[in-house]
Amino acid sequence: MNEIKNLINITDLSVQEIDHLVEIADDIMARPEAYQDTCSHKKLATLFFEPSTRTRLSFTAAMMELGGNVLGFSDASSSSSTKGESVADTVIMAGCYADIIAMRHPKEGAPVVAAGKTIVPIINAGDGGHFHPTQTLTDLLTIHRKKGSFTNFTIGLCGDLMFGRTVHSLIEALMRYENVRFILISPRELKLPEYMKEKMNAAGAVWVEYEKLEDAIPELDILYMTRVQKERFFNEEDYVRLRDSYILDLEKLEAAKDDMIIMHPLPRVNEIAVEVDNDPRACYFYQALCGKYIRMALILYLLGLK
Ligand code: CP
Repeated sequence: MNEIKNLINITDLSVQEIDHLVEIADDIMARPEAYQDTCSHKKLATLFFEPSTRTRLSFTAAMMELGGNVLGFSDASSSSSTKGESVADTVIMAGCYADIIAMRHPKEGAPVVAAGKTIVPIINAGDGGHFHPTQTLTDLLTIHRKKGSFTNFTIGLCGDLMFGRTVHSLIEALMRYENVRFILISPRELKLPEYMKEKMNAAGAVWVEYEKLEDAIPELDILYMTRVQKERFFNEEDYVRLRDSYILDLEKLEAAKDDMIIMHPLPRVNEIAVEVDNDPRACYFYQALCGKYIRMALILYLLGLK
């Protein structure tokens, strides 16, 4: 019997596996009709204990476009967790009904617990302030399609770097590639956690911290904006003080390179002005589209169908 492969952290995938997934996603984008029945009679369970728009909908669309079916819940309050059922038991149940599970949970490490409980592949669709590996795959496909390579660039990561799970996963992925320089832009209170800096140092990654976006912007090939996440704060006062630390607008973009790309995992609140949406460097909505294709590739790969 083949070993079950889960995706809990982006480092569960080798660089070669990431290249393979990107290749499959490219092929799906070029020839979607060739994939429309590849998951017929397969079922994906989406267990979302925390709100989501993109991740859940793109997983759903991905399975539908592969010819498969989707079951699950989008809100913990409509599941038996409200009656006290544990995550472990919920996942065992989902494994009885589906061939693969995508799970989001507010508690860090919940997907690791889940992965030991079932014989179907578990995909971490975001666990608290920890990791979000399928967002990273989305980001990598976007970088591949817009920049052509994962090497030789400077990326600025801006906003909530403390709790930003998309940032943590993206750094873990990119620090494995050559000549990627990281500029970490955040208020003092939302700096990248020490454990992440230790990982970067151990990998020999080149990084620097800035507090002002304006100081970093002329150097960047990629600007990755993030939201200050209200749901991760312990008190409203701190959130209100920090929420508008960075607002990217057309005036700030005047100092940016012509071929810099602007990414954001979304949802955005105020950190990118709507006027930026029509700038040719803005690619956050395209990034969300890439999320569907890379999740199609991932489902096929974890089910052993590609
Ligand atoms: N990027 C992302 O995870 O978005 P959702 O929270 O809407 O899924």
